[in-house]
Amino acid sequence: MLSAVEVLRQIGDLSGLDNVSKLWDESMAQYPQEQPLFFLREDFWQPLMAPMGLGPEWQEPLRRTAAAIADSPAMSQLAWHGYWRLFRPTTYINISGWPEPPELGEQDKGLFYVLLALAMWPLAQKYWDGLDIPEQVRHDTGHGFAGSCLKIYQEGHDGRPGINQNQLSWSNLYTRTSLFRLGRMQYILEPLRKAVRVFRHRQTGQVIAFPDAGLTFTPDGYRYADPADYAGLDAWTSVLEINDRIIRGNPFSPRGFASRTVLELPAADWELVLKDGDECLSMHIPRGGGMTPEKCLDSFHRGCDFYAKYFPSRPAKAIVCSSWIFNNQLQDILPPTANLVQLQREVYLFPCASNRHDGLWFIYLHNGAFQLDKVPRQTSLQRSIAEYLDQGHRWRCGHMFLLLDDLERFGQKTYLRNEANATRDLEA
Ligand SMILES: CC(C)(COP(=O)(O)OP(=O)(O)OC[C@H]1O[C@@H](n2cnc3c(N)ncnc32)[C@H](O)[C@@H]1OP(=O)(O)O)[C@@H](O)C(=O)NCCC(=O)NCCS
Repeated sequence: MLSAVEVLRQIGDLSGLDNVSKLWDESMAQYPQEQPLFFLREDFWQPLMAPMGLGPEWQEPLRRTAAAIADSPAMSQLAWHGYWRLFRPTTYINISGWPEPPELGEQDKGLFYVLLALAMWPLAQKYWDGLDIPEQVRHDTGHGFAGSCLKIYQEGHDGRPGINQNQLSWSNLYTRTSLFRLGRMQYILEPLRKAVRVFRHRQTGQVIAFPDAGLTFTPDGYRYADPADYAGLDAWTSVLEINDRIIRGNPFSPRGFASRTVLELPAADWELVLKDGDECLSMHIPRGGGMTPEKCLDSFHRGCDFYAKYFPSRPAKAIVCSSWIFNNQLQDILPPTANLVQLQREVYLFPCASNRHDGLWFIYLHNGAFQLDKVPRQTSLQRSIAEYLDQGHRWRCGHMFLLLDDLERFGQKTYLRNEANATRDLEA
């Protein structure tokens, strides 16, 4: 058996050694005697192409690639290590910085990772069998995973096929979590971890959210991921006091920022309806545009019904998401009719500790560091965000929640219309 360093030396690229070395001995201890590796055999991967959204045009390139990997002990070992790291470890570690073996040829080398992603399907099927997941949901969830990752990769690599390594981890999630696509969106049922408490007024139904105590905010109520970024700013720290008599804290405006001014509510009138640890539908937004309010609402309803039926012991309280898509700066950048702006006005936005380039990859698909002067400006979204950044604005991401009890009011801008007086007059 070759060591990780020897494998990479033979492949001709040592730059990913740190990451490749992780769990190497563990995966090599289970290296199959039988060669070629089962997931390189055509009778394994060929039937998975259609369910995972790969057209017949990929058969020949995949055949060449699988055969070339099988012929090389170094590439076979790396492929096994990739398979093992994706699907077998007890502790998952992201694959990052691994080489695309040059020996496969400039055009085919990215297909190394497509073969790994395809291997997800039988494992996911087995897991879904145990949950009795209907065929349609399996189809919508799996279909296109490899195909859509491949398309995204091609967009960012002048048409050359492959899979971005930051997307490979999804293949692991499908085989062991509650990640499913239901209509336009995907969801995972999981406990909330966003340092937020949400209260509803017992009579009026009004909703007010507060951050936990001890969080740092910029003067205008946003959060940075890197504490060093607060240097020189008049930053402030949130308070939150909850007892039998009062709820006292720095409220979030549903427009996406926190108020420095403290608000005190009489505890008897307000019910705590969402807090960290509560089960939520954590939403992920697949690529594809066309995210109309109707499609969003349809997916939200499907999500509620599906998880209530298949995970009945874990009732969800809200749909939540953290993304560039819930950055309230989009309301300054895009027209009010844009799908993303319409969606933002139907949910409760709140700040997410972000770095200045978080989420921009989903818009520009750049390789390596974000460079504003190099990004494509082809679509209207790419142009308008780049122009906004040209003006010197610091980019952010945002969190949102939508309580499932408010789903029936989707379309009425419920949180905005009932915004507390305490934050209503503040500038976003
Ligand atoms: C989020 C998303 C679905 C929004 O779609 P939408 O607002 O309904 O977009 P529309 O279909 O109305 O498209 C509006 C314009 O933006 C462009 N556009 C949409 N998504 C784009 C993207 N991800 N990158 C670049 N341009 C995009 C469209 O081409 C269109 O441009 P045009 O006016 O030049 O034709 C879409 O941006 C997307 O697919 N994003 C990738 C997935 C993602 O970011 N997920 C979240 C990860 S945290």
